Amino acid sequence: MHNPDLVARPPNVARGSTTGPPPPSFTVLNPADGEIIDWLPEADAEDARLAVERAAAAFADWSGLSARERSACLYRWAALLRAEQQPLAEQLSAEQGKPLAEALGEIEYSASYLQWFAEEAPRIYGDTIPAPDRSKRIMVTKQPVGVVAAITPWNFPMAMLARKAGAALAAGCTFVGKPAHETPLSALALQRLALQAGIPAGVFELVTGSDSAAIGEVLTQHPLIAKFSFTGSTRVGRLLAAQCSSTVKRVSLELGGNAPFIVFADADIEAALDGLMLAKFRNAGQTCVCANRVLVQAEIYDEFAERLRQRMMDLQVGPLIHERAAVAVRQLVADALFVGARQLWPPADHADGLGRGNRVTPTLLADVTNSMAVAQSEIFGPVVPLISFTGEAEAIRLANDTEYGLASYLYTRDSARLWRVADALQFGMVGMNDAAISNAAAPFGGMKQSGYGREGSRYGLDDYLEIKYLSMGGL
Ligand code: SIN
Repeated sequence: MHNPDLVARPPNVARGSTTGPPPPSFTVLNPADGEIIDWLPEADAEDARLAVERAAAAFADWSGLSARERSACLYRWAALLRAEQQPLAEQLSAEQGKPLAEALGEIEYSASYLQWFAEEAPRIYGDTIPAPDRSKRIMVTKQPVGVVAAITPWNFPMAMLARKAGAALAAGCTFVGKPAHETPLSALALQRLALQAGIPAGVFELVTGSDSAAIGEVLTQHPLIAKFSFTGSTRVGRLLAAQCSSTVKRVSLELGGNAPFIVFADADIEAALDGLMLAKFRNAGQTCVCANRVLVQAEIYDEFAERLRQRMMDLQVGPLIHERAAVAVRQLVADALFVGARQLWPPADHADGLGRGNRVTPTLLADVTNSMAVAQSEIFGPVVPLISFTGEAEAIRLANDTEYGLASYLYTRDSARLWRVADALQFGMVGMNDAAISNAAAPFGGMKQSGYGREGSRYGLDDYLEIKYLSMGGL
């Protein structure tokens, strides 16, 4: 259910006059039933420029606060989120489509990043370096990079914003965020709570609008922006990174994934199945770290497939974000079946087939090969392609045979193999007998075409800090 009181009306329409026609607006839909749950004024490129200017104006005061003062604001922000967890989760669930339990989890996940960076802010240390000359001293200080802009996705509408803004604000940067137009309400609630937490106006700006290209152009090219951060598809990330090059911005990109989930014959199969259900079906399969290809050693392939099928028989997942997304997922399944995969679930006579509208029936495919589109694309839906392998070398080769390099998972009881394979996987994150890899203490990020930069953990501050070297002579 959406409660309009949770949402600060966007300040990015400050130009709106009180007379004349109403400003253009865009609607926010509930993916579960397609109903309109809110409509918001459309921000355009000019609104984005104004937001950048407000963030730039706020920078001197915010970066001039002590780290402890900034930290206190972030602690309060996290506490306010937790205090409103239930209504915020209901709103998030309404605009995004994920079940309430997962939405509650996302509010806590968001608060955990704000808390983490509240804890990190006072620990932004410098360094001293022995100088080559006795008359000198070399010191290193760290300073906020300036105004940060970020574009965040609809799959975790609050957490992805909190993860970036928490780090930026802790470092002393000010921030302009562009949330996905499908899910702006959680972002606006986050902004209302930022102000309530004592974070001054201008420090956490938002631009909500559906013309992502026009707004994105401003956020990637405005000379007052020092750093740009994006979470979304690799295709869009490439374009945005290219746009950032004209003003030589620092860029961090958290892009698509194609996570292999490797199960060796010596694994604890029950634990692997538990992990797979978690890593595959969180948010109906719409996460960048979702298990995308399940590689199972030949000896246990049939047993694993059957036990997984039984678990999937009663599984219910939420809707996908919109029908376009569901059609793309069903097309990947149809393509796989056409080129030789076998559908283990749902049965051919299943009442809902592969799903309708923006709903996709959890689908299990056997006899998939790594060259099929379903294995090479980021599925972003509740589909499990099973691929068989014979030995360790083949598992590693298949797992790494993708342009992506975000998350990966492997299950085995052989501890030497666990380390060997983890070392060989070309992914930024490896779950070793572990499928719940996302948390504020850990560096989240990828390799290859999954992007660069890390979010969360102590490394998550690095992208928001300039290193300045001070050379003092005449000693
Ligand atoms: C994502 O899907 O982009 C983020 C998922 C996570 O933080 O676990």
